[in-house]
Amino acid sequence: MQASPDAEKRNAAYAAVDHVKDGMVVGLGSGTTAAYAILALGERRKHENMQILGVPSSYQAFQLAIQNGVPITTLEENPIVDVNIDGADQIDPQLNLIKGMGAALVREKIVAASARHNIFIADQKKKVLVLGEGNQPVPLEVVPFGVALVRRRVQALGGIPMLRETKGKLGPVISDNGNVIMDAAFGAINDPEELELQLKKIPGVVETGLFLGLSDVVYLGTGTTVQKLEKNRL
Ligand code: 5RP
Repeated sequence: MQASPDAEKRNAAYAAVDHVKDGMVVGLGSGTTAAYAILALGERRKHENMQILGVPSSYQAFQLAIQNGVPITTLEENPIVDVNIDGADQIDPQLNLIKGMGAALVREKIVAASARHNIFIADQKKKVLVLGEGNQPVPLEVVPFGVALVRRRVQALGGIPMLRETKGKLGPVISDNGNVIMDAAFGAINDPEELELQLKKIPGVVETGLFLGLSDVVYLGTGTTVQKLEKNRL
């Protein structure tokens, strides 16, 4: 039976939250799928009286943590995150990801890099053979002063850059860090490590949405079940 994307996201989130134990510091991802995980953490805290602290990866995650009764902390207070749970926009067979369609990629990558264990959760349509397929862009967080340079350099790398516009207000999307988001479409990305290297060399690029080698486990909600993908066990 085909479940709705929402049910798939929810099932993946609840499977991920099973990894959380009493006393843990938990990375709180951003997006609609990660929102289910924050909801589930709030429920476990309430019903099991579990003591946890959440590190929000965005203003959205911060607000959801407050609303769902998940106490929050910072990386200054707790530099090591025990387990991070976040969503993804695309997932390849090596468990490399594209993230950042919610414009939270910088903080998401910092939280992921601070984590002992990274779990990503998604509905099944996020699984792809090659990152970038279906014209999925790589989101880049860019310092506003550097937009013209980044645009030219992305074009020189064969990409099509597009400054992300807001909905409900005229003008560009401004990230939680005060920067803009440039979506760079490269088509199918055959060498994501090389592309990451080239993009990070561009002055003005704060971070890219390529999350390479960071995932330990991916839970994909498929139909009414959850598929678990693990690093080195494909
Ligand atoms: C935000 C992200 C999200 O995790 C990603 O866009 C997936 O979002 P959703 O679960 O809503 O599909 O990277 O920057």
